[in-house]
Amino acid sequence: MTTYLVTGATGNLGSRITRQLTRISPVEAITALVRPGAETSHLEDLGVGIVRGHYEDLGSLRHALGGVTRLVLVSSPILDPTARVRQHRNVIEQAVGAGVEHVVYTSALGAEHDPGHFETEQALERSVPSTILRNGLYSEPFARRALNEAVRSGSITSSTGGHPVRTASWDDLAEAACLAVTAVDPQSSIRRLNGTPWTYDELARHLAARLGRSVTHQEVADDESGPLGQLHALFRHGLLTQSPDELTGMLRRAPRSIEVVVDALLGDDTRREA
Ligand SMILES: NC(=O)c1ccc[n+]([C@@H]2O[C@H](COP(=O)([O-])OP(=O)(O)OC[C@H]3O[C@@H](n4cnc5c(N)ncnc54)[C@H](OP(=O)(O)O)[C@@H]3O)[C@@H](O)[C@H]2O)c1
Repeated sequence: MTTYLVTGATGNLGSRITRQLTRISPVEAITALVRPGAETSHLEDLGVGIVRGHYEDLGSLRHALGGVTRLVLVSSPILDPTARVRQHRNVIEQAVGAGVEHVVYTSALGAEHDPGHFETEQALERSVPSTILRNGLYSEPFARRALNEAVRSGSITSSTGGHPVRTASWDDLAEAACLAVTAVDPQSSIRRLNGTPWTYDELARHLAARLGRSVTHQEVADDESGPLGQLHALFRHGLLTQSPDELTGMLRRAPRSIEVVVDALLGDDTRREA
């Protein structure tokens, strides 16, 4: 039986990868790596195995990777590139030692300019067959911020200068990771994954329709655009929108649009309020 270990399984992406994996593989074959003390009821409900470990704790990684055939390494959220590479190398070295046959790694578009991701990709290429998924920016933080602004004031802000934004949803990126790790004969490759472009004017129109109120889009300076200001600046300069359409190719369908992501957030909000 091919066995799978998913890291970061309590996070936005890893939890979705784990859940989607249960739809295509027996739960007995799936183990989720979680940090000591992490809350795991959502994973227990799925019926997958749970193992505790930390990217800095070699013994815990060795234990977690014993008997694993294929690994999904969800990148560490730590921002310091040196620490990030160290943590990822720890996982890769223990995976190689345990005889893992294939690693799927969630990298990022533009990894060539991001040492934390790029050095991890190189470590993988040197040591184990791997699929490197260079993920686009997540749609959800953009949709969530706009939704909150629209509800609060009827005006959403960006500093994109009207340029298109290109992002991908957690669910689609999770599905791609599942497809990559369960492929019949996975080949080492780098895949550039992103959703379809959208603009803040389109997002305002959709929010107005869904909320049943006037919602306008207002251009502001980067520093008035909150934590997304720096990312808006990238889109204003035409970056991160040029990647090939490999997500559509992998999913064999169009990725979820920003409108679908907004609707999912509204659905979640409705369920919470009920
Ligand atoms: N494409 C994008 O827009 C974007 C945006 C942000 C981040 N990222 C990258 O994509 C990754 C996945 O995104 P996400 O939204 O799923 O992140 P997330 O929700 O923050 O999840 C990160 C996961 O990594 C686990 N983790 C953190 N440090 C660890 C350690 N030292 N040892 C073992 N596990 C550890 C966390 O466990 P706990 O639950 O215990 O904290 C959590 O399960 C991030 O970690 C980051 O590298 C991408």
